[in-house]
Amino acid sequence: MQTSAFQQINHNSVYLPFPVQENQLSNLLESFDLLGVQGFNVTVPYKEKIIPFLSDVSDEAAFVGAVNTVKKTPEGWIGYCTDGSGFVRGLSERNIELRSKCVLMIGAGGAAKAIAFSIANNEIAKLVIVNRTASKATALKSKLNKSFPKLQIVVNPNSTEDYDLLINTTTIGMDGISLSVPENQVNHCKAIVDIIYNPPQTPLLKLANEQGLVWANGIDMLLYQGAEAFEIWTNKKAPIEVMRKCLEKSLAFAK
Ligand code: ATR
Repeated sequence: MQTSAFQQINHNSVYLPFPVQENQLSNLLESFDLLGVQGFNVTVPYKEKIIPFLSDVSDEAAFVGAVNTVKKTPEGWIGYCTDGSGFVRGLSERNIELRSKCVLMIGAGGAAKAIAFSIANNEIAKLVIVNRTASKATALKSKLNKSFPKLQIVVNPNSTEDYDLLINTTTIGMDGISLSVPENQVNHCKAIVDIIYNPPQTPLLKLANEQGLVWANGIDMLLYQGAEAFEIWTNKKAPIEVMRKCLEKSLAFAK
């Protein structure tokens, strides 16, 4: 996806995988300096562990405590987290609005943290967090409250209500069978987004589709977190359609 995007805008770069051991992290940036690497992505399990080696991190990365994108600058290596901003960009491309909306988010893990930060930044009115481990959801609420004091946040409520948007950030549904919310929750929501992209339609999204709701899977988030990274590295607009085609092709190939 990234190499196709570089080619599309005639940017003289390629995107390569570097399998790295944890004990190599401290020397990694020096090696990248020597090789002329201008930027890179970081994935599991190093999204947190890379931070001590960077010169600075963005607000989103600082909030999430994780970095997925790094850029070389005259001031040093700067870390970003584009997961939340990529997620929000995906919503906006589908005309799913956030401002003053009431959102139900399932999950309180790493992806949930990034998404919560970005949707809060986009001025939602209320966030309801539902998570199997209540303490993790409460910890996320406290963190959010510090950065967004005006945002109303509720954890694991006893009763249900109507939501403008439901977001599943958990892995429930990846098996193609499990539902991340009780079935009767679905018709209390106007739009449903699942960050799972494989299968492309989780049981939750199947229900959303059957009930005629607006819905989207995790391909958008995957695409736009990459597009945001591309734009950080190149300062140029990402060629979205080329990237989407490439991504869809590789996901179909991976099946
Ligand atoms: P990621 O970085 O993808 O967000 P994570 O940080 O491990 O991954 O978070 C996974 C999320 O999915 C958590 O909210 C987790 O709930 P817990 O906090 O209770 O662990 C949720 N999750 C994963 N499997 C689940 C399951 N079978 N039932 C309920 N929640 C589940």
